[in-house]
Amino acid sequence: MSKSYDSDYFQRWYRDPRTRVTSDRALERKVHLALSAAEYMLGRRARTVLDIGCGEARWFVALRRLRPGILYTGVESSEYAVETFGESRNVRRGSFGTLRSLKLKGPFDLIVCADVLQYVSKEHLGPGLREIRRLLGGAAYIEAYAREDDMVGDMEGWNYRSAATYRREFKAAGLTHCGLYCFIDARKISAVNALEVCS
Ligand SMILES: C[S@@+](CC[C@H](N)C(=O)[O-])C[C@H]1O[C@@H](n2cnc3c(N)ncnc32)[C@H](O)[C@@H]1O
Repeated sequence: MSKSYDSDYFQRWYRDPRTRVTSDRALERKVHLALSAAEYMLGRRARTVLDIGCGEARWFVALRRLRPGILYTGVESSEYAVETFGESRNVRRGSFGTLRSLKLKGPFDLIVCADVLQYVSKEHLGPGLREIRRLLGGAAYIEAYAREDDMVGDMEGWNYRSAATYRREFKAAGLTHCGLYCFIDARKISAVNALEVCS
């Protein structure tokens, strides 16, 4: 039976205090980081966000708290999540590898892809990252876990890749690392200094 990202999944890993592996506090920290990176690079407040593999669109809620007018688009492959949050949180059905087929209109000031890449197959990784690069205006927050990390949580369907493999894939897609989980398309950001990005 294939894996189901249903209500029980999100209850188990995100809500139930006995089994969850993250918290609202942790999310808040990530949202501050991602917004700051995008707004630093753009030199203005972020107006648009694309969140790929958004799940129940927790980022929508946290982002709106800080930037009430921000325009959020979520993309999710889970039927449950799209049915439940599609309308209220603007979540569309789609998958990482076939993102391009959604014909999304960029650029987006911030692109989020948090805790998703380890579930994406080898074949879909490159096309999805290249589409992120194409749609990116400000900064992308791409939180991915490498083989070297000591992870707990939902390990079903986990693709173990080294940090070096991820770095190679990001670079091949034209994404430049600018610290922590943040990336830019350096050609679209004016006057980035050498030490603002990682070599
Ligand atoms: C661990 S959850 C993270 C959810 C959300 N990003 C967050 O941080 O709250 C992983 C999510 O990735 C989605 N997902 C897994 N594979 C995907 C794919 N190939 N394309 C799009 N979404 C995918 C799942 O449906 C699930 O919602």
